[in-house]
Amino acid sequence: MGVKLAIIGYGYWGKNLVRNFNNLENCTVKYVCEREEKSAKKCSNLYPGIKVVSEYEEVLSDPEIDAVVIATSINTHYDLSKKALENDKHVLVEKPMTDSFEKAKELKRMADKLSKVLMVDHTFLYTGAVSYLKKKIDEGEYGQINYIDSTRVNLGLFQQDLNVLWDLAPHDISICFYLMNALPLTVQATGISHTENNIENIAYLTLKYDNDTIVHFNCSWVSPVKIRQMLIGGSKKMVVFNDMEPTEKIKIYDTGFRVRSDQEKDEFTADYRVGDIFVPKVGTTEALSAMAQDFIAAIVEGKEPDSNADIGMQVVRILDAAEKSLKNNGQEIAL
Ligand SMILES: NC(=O)c1ccc[n+]([C@@H]2O[C@H](COP(=O)([O-])OP(=O)(O)OC[C@H]3O[C@@H](n4cnc5c(N)ncnc54)[C@H](O)[C@@H]3O)[C@@H](O)[C@H]2O)c1
Repeated sequence: MGVKLAIIGYGYWGKNLVRNFNNLENCTVKYVCEREEKSAKKCSNLYPGIKVVSEYEEVLSDPEIDAVVIATSINTHYDLSKKALENDKHVLVEKPMTDSFEKAKELKRMADKLSKVLMVDHTFLYTGAVSYLKKKIDEGEYGQINYIDSTRVNLGLFQQDLNVLWDLAPHDISICFYLMNALPLTVQATGISHTENNIENIAYLTLKYDNDTIVHFNCSWVSPVKIRQMLIGGSKKMVVFNDMEPTEKIKIYDTGFRVRSDQEKDEFTADYRVGDIFVPKVGTTEALSAMAQDFIAAIVEGKEPDSNADIGMQVVRILDAAEKSLKNNGQEIAL
């Protein structure tokens, strides 16, 4: 009962979405739409109560369907989201929201005009670790954020239609935007392709803010090891967020520095502070389940979702600027 849903795309990520929405009590997954026969069959076998269809028009034209979840490849997000909104459905679309800032803006305008929920699955915002960091940063516990430096590399699947930034950086950008609550002033990206299709498989993205904050992301599909690590340097404390750690994902270092100017000698000296390391207990609920609940709450209670359309749109804005920078030899692009 409750909200009636259709999920389009039963691929790698769609499977996780179907499992999580199917476990919620206040919604019913009425349809899965999957055009590949083998995947569709797997879904039917696993969920006999869900109607599996191959054409999305069938689910969009069903007046019983309140909301559509889109888990297809990025180049289809805009068209499918637009059609779903036009058919009076709330929309949850996978990250990144669209493949251009213009399209993201248009979808948000449409959703606002039609009073429909438009949400983007930036799953990391719902992890215990990121929720904890958000609370502490908002409370000023770490002071002014001077830098964020993130490494997201592994021997990843080369995508055919998008580069490594569009694939991996949405996670880092959404976390960063959520934690900092601000847009950078400039975006700069460099990268390289080791394949004939010229799609970058290694890329470095730098964001500069107006308050002496610098953010750097290292994204790669060609690393021999998998690293998911974010360093956050605050003026009071510093944080290591290692998502590969099963339990101790966050370590807070009571570490800092203070610069003194020695006027007699006409030079700067730095005092360092190396204090205790604290490992907080963070929530371990599956992030995707919390994300799914947030979408349903947005529909039923009118709650603004944490991963709202604005975050989705700003992530794409930064990716769009990064793409321009990549194609112009790392030129700094003002937002
Ligand atoms: N939030 C996350 O952490 C996370 C993780 C992985 C992937 N994703 C996102 O999920 C999306 C899908 O990625 P994936 O890795 O699951 O891709 P995938 O190729 O494994 O799955 C996509 C599925 O959609 C189906 N499909 C495509 N167009 C369709 C249509 N018009 N009608 C019916 N079925 C259609 C395909 O047949 C395929 O099975 C991407 O946007 C990706 O960025 C998000």
